[in-house]
Amino acid sequence: MNPKFNKKILAIAGIVIILTLTLIIINSTRNDQADNNKIARNNGQQEAVNIEDEPTNAVIEPTNEPEPSITSEVIVKEIVELSVEEDIPSLYEVYSAYFPIGAALEPFQTTGLKADLLKKHVNWIVAENAMKPVSLQPTEGNFNWTQADQLIEFAKANNMEVRFHTLVWHTQVGDWFFKDLEGKSMVDETDTDKREANKQLLLERLATHVRTIVSRYKDDIKSWDVVNEVIEPADPDGMRASEWYKITGTDYIETAFRVAREAGGPDIKLYINDYGTDDVVKRDRLYELVKEMIEKDVPIDGVGHQTHINIEWPPVGSIIASMEKFAGLGLDNLVTELDMSLYVWNDRSDFGEEIPYQIVEKQADRYAELFEAFKEHKDIIGGVVFWGIADDHTWLSTFPITRTEAPFLFDKQLHAKPAFWALVDPATR
Ligand code: GLA
Repeated sequence: MNPKFNKKILAIAGIVIILTLTLIIINSTRNDQADNNKIARNNGQQEAVNIEDEPTNAVIEPTNEPEPSITSEVIVKEIVELSVEEDIPSLYEVYSAYFPIGAALEPFQTTGLKADLLKKHVNWIVAENAMKPVSLQPTEGNFNWTQADQLIEFAKANNMEVRFHTLVWHTQVGDWFFKDLEGKSMVDETDTDKREANKQLLLERLATHVRTIVSRYKDDIKSWDVVNEVIEPADPDGMRASEWYKITGTDYIETAFRVAREAGGPDIKLYINDYGTDDVVKRDRLYELVKEMIEKDVPIDGVGHQTHINIEWPPVGSIIASMEKFAGLGLDNLVTELDMSLYVWNDRSDFGEEIPYQIVEKQADRYAELFEAFKEHKDIIGGVVFWGIADDHTWLSTFPITRTEAPFLFDKQLHAKPAFWALVDPATR
């Protein structure tokens, strides 16, 4: 065979082998990269996200587009460690000339980073669950103080005040309250005399619950939610058709306030707490009830406005208008459970992992507007309490559906969001 021809074949074969090897190496590098990305994501550590989509099994139609080069940008996203930023202003100090700033917490949050965040930014705390009826008296006569005491100790050790939430509610309350002496459900009773006896029994149980708790904590807690969510415009009379109401009418409200005052003395402040108090129909029904109670000398000191709002609704003006209306009765107003959902009512969408920047900014603007109004009305607002502190822990992430939520001023890493800066430095908005 012609040696020249031989050399040519060898040269071509060599080039083919080199090309094949190069392709194999390129391919394996790309697969390694994809695997590494997945591992990093699963570990929740530093995340390297290739701007191409992850490989799929879908058939890819040939196009004229050039293949993106494997050296094309790889965006490295830092997944920042949880930490408390010590070099930023303290929220409650910034607001000290206006009103105290509070947050709801669980007992497990009294240690660690969450505790540090709370200590820096709030001077008021409230139990998210630990002081609800079922937590304190799960079965008749068996009071469980451990978790509530833990919160009080935490507050004392850190110069914070405590709010009490809540002596009476229609949910998170032991069933035993509403069973007669034979264990039968009181609401099902049809005999008039027995209904009356049941009513007295329920009011006695309520009085014992209230007296026992208020006597224990009256020196540690000044601000008390006595009843929670008793108004429901859709129910008969606009009063929530709870077991409390069906069995006692509005007597349970009266009893709870009177016994709280007797046990706690004149210095504790007693509140009626509800959500949607900006809604004109609900607000006016609540107003009517409170006015009627005050005329009967029921000791009500103020209205707690839960203020679970969203990024669009309600208008700040209607929140303030409601407070002004109750202030007209000589009552204090508290914002008791503030959070701001990213979704409007009835929206069931989910931002997933990436909350759009415009939404985060919109939330900041709305928080700024809200707190400017609160500051202007500081004379009728006794305090502002958030229903949590950072986006890693909020009831909204499972209500009304499970999804990404971010209702607070601090993100999941406990770092200040634009909403925080909107409140401590509103001039920048
Ligand atoms: C109501 C209650 C709170 C809390 C929230 C949701 O607002 O008052 O105690 O349960 O619902 O978590």
